[in-house]
Amino acid sequence: MTPLIAANWKMNGLGRDGKDRVRKLLSHVAANKHKCDIVVCPPATLLASIAGLLTGSPVALGGQDCHAAGSGAHTGDVSAPMLADVGCRHVIVGHSERRADHRETDAVVGSKAAAAHASGLTAIVCVGESENQRDGGETLAVVGAQLVGSLPHSVNAENTVVAYEPIWAIGTGRTPTLDEVSQVHEFIGEKLRDAFPDDGDRVRILYGGSVKPSNAADLLAIQRVNGALVGGASLNADDFWAICQSCP
Ligand code: PGA
Repeated sequence: MTPLIAANWKMNGLGRDGKDRVRKLLSHVAANKHKCDIVVCPPATLLASIAGLLTGSPVALGGQDCHAAGSGAHTGDVSAPMLADVGCRHVIVGHSERRADHRETDAVVGSKAAAAHASGLTAIVCVGESENQRDGGETLAVVGAQLVGSLPHSVNAENTVVAYEPIWAIGTGRTPTLDEVSQVHEFIGEKLRDAFPDDGDRVRILYGGSVKPSNAADLLAIQRVNGALVGGASLNADDFWAICQSCP
C-alpha cells in the first residue's frame, strides 16, 4: 500500500506564505524521489491559487472540511462539489477540532463523508480519543464507535482514508507509544475489514498528532500505519518533506 502523507494547515496561511510553502515543497518533489502520495490541505481561501501551482505535479489538493449538502443556504460553508470544482481530490472530515468547535457528531461526519464520495473526493475521516478517555481505558471503544458512526455505506479503498488522531497528541508534542499506535491501527483495520469485507484491508489508516521529522520514521514503520496527517510540522516545507521522506 502506498503511504499517504497529508498536510493539514488548519487556519494558517495568507496568500504569499502559503504559495511560497507549496513552491518549496514542489522543488523538493521535483529534485528527489518519494515513496508516498502527498496531499496538501490549505485553508479554503488559498485553494484556488494553490490548485494553480499544483497543476501537473504529483501533489494533490485537499479541503479541510465540507458541508453535507451540495449547495444551499449555509452561510460560510463550502460544499464537496465546490471543492471538486476548484481541483481538490481529497477532503478532511470529522477532525477533532471541528467535532469540538462546531459540535459535529458522528452522524454529521458520516454525511459529510458521503457527500465527499458523491463528488468523487477521497474523504479523510478523523477519529481519536481524548486524554480522559485514554486514561479511562476507553480508547478502543471510543474509536470503534466513531468509526461505526462516521463511515457511510459508500466507503471503498479508493474513496476513504481513516486518520487516527488522539486528541491529546494534537499540537502537544506528545504521542502514544509505538505499541499503543500499533494497537489502535490494528483495531481500526479489523473494524474496517468487518464493515467492508471487500475493501477494508486496503483502506489506508493514517496516524496524526505531533508527527515531526524526528518521530516520523518510527511511526511510519508500524505495520498498519499507512501514512500521516501532519498539522504543525506541515507549515514548514522542509519538515513536511522530511516526513514524506521517512516513509518506508
Ligand atoms: P499536529 O496536528 O501535527 O500539529 O499535532 C495534527 C492534526 O491535527 O491533524
